[in-house]
Amino acid sequence: MFMPTVSIENLKSGEKTKFEINGIKLMIANINDAAYAVQRYCSHAESDLTEGNLEGCVIECALHGAMFDVRDGKVLSLPATQPLKTYPTKIENGMILVDIPEVAESA
Ligand code: FES
Repeated sequence: MFMPTVSIENLKSGEKTKFEINGIKLMIANINDAAYAVQRYCSHAESDLTEGNLEGCVIECALHGAMFDVRDGKVLSLPATQPLKTYPTKIENGMILVDIPEVAESA
């Protein structure tokens, strides 16, 4: 079910933010005016990815430096080996909507 998160006006291209909905902690990023949503915590040791550096479509974990492609969650460099969970997004009336399960997952 698509749920409203943040306004695209408040998340410029190249920016990221944290958001929690239905108990699911997300990092939402704007890359060239397209919105992407991934799990907020690194798949390596659960550091908050919003503390990391976003360069293009790549988020670098602030703790040990693993890199992920925010568009598909793919691991681009160690020490992480597991991809990030991604969530479909769309933009409607200037609002970023994220498709999340209706019941919170244990993540
Ligand atoms: S917690 Fe992210 S690379 Fe270790």
